[in-house]
Amino acid sequence: MNTMQAVWISTFGGPEGLEIRIVGKPTINDDQVLVRVRASSLNRADLLQRQGKYPPPPGFPVEIPGMEFAGEVAAAGSSVRQWKPGQRVFGLIGGGAHAEYVVTYEHLLAEIPANLDWTEAAAVPEVFITAHDALWTQANLRPGETVLIPAVGSGVGLAAVQLARAMQAVPYGTSRTADKIERAKPLGLEDGLVVRENAVRDNFEELQAEAEKWTAGKGINVLLDLVGGPYVKAAQKLMAHKGRMILVGTVAGGSYELEARYVMSKRLNIRGTVLRSRSLNEKTAATRLFAAEVVPLLAHGVLRPNVDSVFPMAEISQAHQRLESNETFGKVVVVME
Ligand SMILES: NC(=O)c1ccc[n+]([C@@H]2O[C@H](COP(=O)([O-])OP(=O)(O)OC[C@H]3O[C@@H](n4cnc5c(N)ncnc54)[C@H](OP(=O)(O)O)[C@@H]3O)[C@@H](O)[C@H]2O)c1
Repeated sequence: MNTMQAVWISTFGGPEGLEIRIVGKPTINDDQVLVRVRASSLNRADLLQRQGKYPPPPGFPVEIPGMEFAGEVAAAGSSVRQWKPGQRVFGLIGGGAHAEYVVTYEHLLAEIPANLDWTEAAAVPEVFITAHDALWTQANLRPGETVLIPAVGSGVGLAAVQLARAMQAVPYGTSRTADKIERAKPLGLEDGLVVRENAVRDNFEELQAEAEKWTAGKGINVLLDLVGGPYVKAAQKLMAHKGRMILVGTVAGGSYELEARYVMSKRLNIRGTVLRSRSLNEKTAATRLFAAEVVPLLAHGVLRPNVDSVFPMAEISQAHQRLESNETFGKVVVVME
């Protein structure tokens, strides 16, 4: 069969513009791998792509969203060494993963541990690679350090809590939903603060008092910011000397107000990061570190995927609505079978 089913953005805008279409099945070159996708997850970037606000990088379909997948190798090109048909793999892709097949490169794949089913595996790549790359690789998080994670009940937030613990660091978080803080504690969250709707500026003093208590006045070593806007402004004041602020998300605002008296006097290291637009070499490096450092911890149950909900591909509009509700705790997974 030269065709497959895929989610298709027929009109940019709301979830009602999504449909399932029969499209051409992609074909591979000698150095590529064809993966039969069993499950994928939703990301905020898929919502933006649906709205016409975030086109995929060149080479990926504008109309088919999906940035991660779990599935089995269906075919491998003649120069591919690492993979054979039937192997269970997961990974990131620039787009097109909400479909029955994707084409990728061998070094962008990792083997799924036997203890994860398709749904659990699909909840892993984007959030664990993002959090691992940000905390372990870029922030060089060390044992005993403190980490602050705004929107801690998000997919990336829950991966970050577990990765901080796995590094013997101490994670704290904020959420606008009290329930999410409590639910994150069994995963390793030390403590958290409920911030009022869109208003971290209004209860900043409370956050500052909490951070002082949490860190015995030393300040936060690493911020993994998943929301942006006023959260970044507030966080700069909470940071320890030589703290690292890794800026990953913008759901609360895309501009930051920074003050030299904090940034310079504390000698803060502020770094923005994005995965999707990285070069093939950079994505390969992040995937290799993920395979070496994160996958074994998943295999031993030290790290666990967090699935909020599961939808069949035919209910893709409902899946988008679920993620947009901001009620999710972990990943919204879409199954392709
Ligand atoms: N740079 C990258 O490469 C990269 C990769 C992956 C994700 N991201 C970004 O990282 C962030 C987390 O992603 P995710 O997929 O884990 O998110 P998610 O699971 O969709 O969770 C996001 C959560 O953020 C909170 N939130 C939403 N709007 C907010 C606002 N205006 N103010 C404060 N909190 C708000 C909500 O929880 P509560 O309100 O209940 O706390 C929501 O459930 C997103 O911003 C995403 O775009 C970036």
